[in-house]
Amino acid sequence: PLEAKRVAAKIDLETALEECTVSLYHFLNNRFADSLAALKPRKNTSMYHAVGYSSILLMQAAMTFDPKDMDAAMTSLKDALHVCQRFRKKTGLMESLANFWYGQQNETLTEEEMHAEICCAEVLMQKAALTFLDESIIGFIKGGMGMRNSYQIYKYCQDMENVLTDEEKQKRTHVHFRGGVSMGIGSFNLMLSLFPARVLRLMEFLGFSGNRELGLAELRAGASSNNLRSILSTMTMLMFHLYITVILGTGDGNLTECEGLLKPYAERFPNGALMLFFTGRIAVLKGNFTFVS
Ligand SMILES: *[C@@H]1O[C@H](CO)[C@@H](O)[C@H](O)[C@H]1NC(C)=O
Ligand SMILES: *[C@@H]1O[C@H](CO)[C@@H](O)[C@H](O)[C@H]1NC(C)=O
Ligand SMILES: *[C@@H]1O[C@H](CO)[C@@H](O)[C@H](O)[C@H]1NC(C)=O
Ligand SMILES: *[C@@H]1O[C@H](CO)[C@@H](O)[C@H](O)[C@H]1NC(C)=O
Repeated sequence: PLEAKRVAAKIDLETALEECTVSLYHFLNNRFADSLAALKPRKNTSMYHAVGYSSILLMQAAMTFDPKDMDAAMTSLKDALHVCQRFRKKTGLMESLANFWYGQQNETLTEEEMHAEICCAEVLMQKAALTFLDESIIGFIKGGMGMRNSYQIYKYCQDMENVLTDEEKQKRTHVHFRGGVSMGIGSFNLMLSLFPARVLRLMEFLGFSGNRELGLAELRAGASSNNLRSILSTMTMLMFHLYITVILGTGDGNLTECEGLLKPYAERFPNGALMLFFTGRIAVLKGNFTFVS
């Protein structure tokens, strides 16, 4: 009972981020079960634990395509969204009306509320991605709407980031918020820049932005600052340079940059499945391999 009470107690943002970083290291060291076990006790009460937990289940579902895994991932994403919503700033009816009339006011959110926004955007993006895998027309439309919701929250977070005072940027947890904005804005720009020009113009009309250079620059910033989501920014760039440019035949993947991005992780987690995967891919693209018979 004492243990349960300790677990149920609310933890602050900084502690949550520390615990999730430890869990991430387990994950990168192939200790997937430990990683999940570290997140599970707080996944109903801490937004970062909830997001981490559902991200791992989503990755599992994306690798196996097993309907059971997909259901489990969807359930945990829905739970995570509920947890994140609880931490968001509540906007009253009058405020909503004022926002409607005068446009978005310069609302001030607490640090925790800002993190709740970014976590919500992330969960919505993941949920939309999983919905796309459903491969039905309804899934496609629902996924598209989810993506749009997610993108709008990221834009909102970016606007907030741009007007923050220096004092607020000094907070120790802030680097993780900034990293989340970079990861989201960067991924969306990069992803949309892959659409054909005509489709892209339509998407831009709908309020999206698909600027490849801007996307890469944001992801670079997210990957190089030391935050919880650096690895996600790094992996997105590696996927782009090592797979997407190859599939599209544009051939402008920058292998030098990839090696630089991967190096710190490969040194720290030499046996990590993800690192071995990308190291192997770089070697293949460089033609630096020998067949073992
Ligand atoms: C979290 O909530 C779900 C259902 O809402 C429940 O089944 C589960 O036991 C809870 N987990 C913890 C660790 O409280
Ligand atoms: C907007 O910010 C300014 C100063 O930063 C403040 O004086 C003003 O009251 C704020 N407006 C709202 C609606 O919060
Ligand atoms: C590839 O990346 C490296 C390091 O980031 C950079 O110095 C170089 O200019 C890039 N090359 C191209 C063709 O963009
Ligand atoms: C080729 O791979 C080997 C290890 O398999 C490595 O030592 C060597 O540096 C690589 N060469 C280049 C040009 O990357």
